[in-house]
Amino acid sequence: MIITKLLEDNLKLQTLSKLQFAKDINIGLSSTPKKLSSKYFYDTRGSQIFQEITKLDEYYLTRAELEILERIKNILPDLVGKNEVDIVELGVGDGHKTKIIINSFLDKKIKVNFFPIDISAEAMHLLEDHISESKNLNIHAVVGEYIEGMNFAREHSKNRQIVLFLGSNIGNFNKTDGENILKKIKSILKKDDFLLIGFDLKKDIEFMTRAYSDHEGITAKFNLNILERINTELRGNFEVENFEHLALYNPELGAMESYLISLKDQIVTISELKKKFKFDAYEPIHLEYSFKFLEKDIQDLSIQGGFKCIGNFKDGNKYFIDSLWQV
Ligand code: AVJ
Repeated sequence: MIITKLLEDNLKLQTLSKLQFAKDINIGLSSTPKKLSSKYFYDTRGSQIFQEITKLDEYYLTRAELEILERIKNILPDLVGKNEVDIVELGVGDGHKTKIIINSFLDKKIKVNFFPIDISAEAMHLLEDHISESKNLNIHAVVGEYIEGMNFAREHSKNRQIVLFLGSNIGNFNKTDGENILKKIKSILKKDDFLLIGFDLKKDIEFMTRAYSDHEGITAKFNLNILERINTELRGNFEVENFEHLALYNPELGAMESYLISLKDQIVTISELKKKFKFDAYEPIHLEYSFKFLEKDIQDLSIQGGFKCIGNFKDGNKYFIDSLWQV
């Protein structure tokens, strides 16, 4: 696979993102209450652990969405109605879901230019195991932020675009940020382009909570990995066994939230920041929001973003919706 963007300005990108990481960690751990952004989960190890999460019994989201995609894959090529298409994916998984969509176009002899965009280079390597270039498929991977990647795709190809924003990745954004990112996406798209966007629906609270606190502790490992990442990349001395993972549903926000809780009074040094951070026993670090949606929220969001909602597609259990929007 050609990781176009990464090869072009690898060094610049790495220095920039490293500086941004240091800055964000410093700000987050200096705030009250302390917080770290969930986008920093996805280093090499974090991307691998997330793949493990998608296979857990408790993590129903991935299976529900796969079921939906299998069911709707054949309507997409007809809707697009061209003999060449650009598929842009925001935040890639291991390629399993994407492959279903790409093949539905290739099977109908439609040429596909695929632009996977992810902040983790490791995500691209996982993708490589499932998707490889072929006669009618060109792949240009972008390691970077969503909007940066979308601009890159737009510069390099001019076909009708279908943007995939799957997995309820939109759930990591609060309402304002979510609306803003959708507006931004729309501004890069052209008339008649499509957005296929996944939403995890509000449902039984215990059931949702289990998906974020699995009995094998894989999600706990996933969350604690952010401390390991700080240790490695910023020369920190977090002792991860002094922190505990906590996931709970906040009904007022309509979101699953995850935290790391300090298990004792402790001081952590982060050498690259030349700084010490004090944690009291039971002090939380907020890590992640995973917003959950009602069908009417999805309708509202499509309007806010400036799209026309063409259809909402659910799995048999009604756990999840993939919503198809058009500019
Ligand atoms: C990839 C952001 C959709 O919020 O459900 C899984 C990440 N966090 N388990 C989600 C995640 C804990 C996931 N997203």
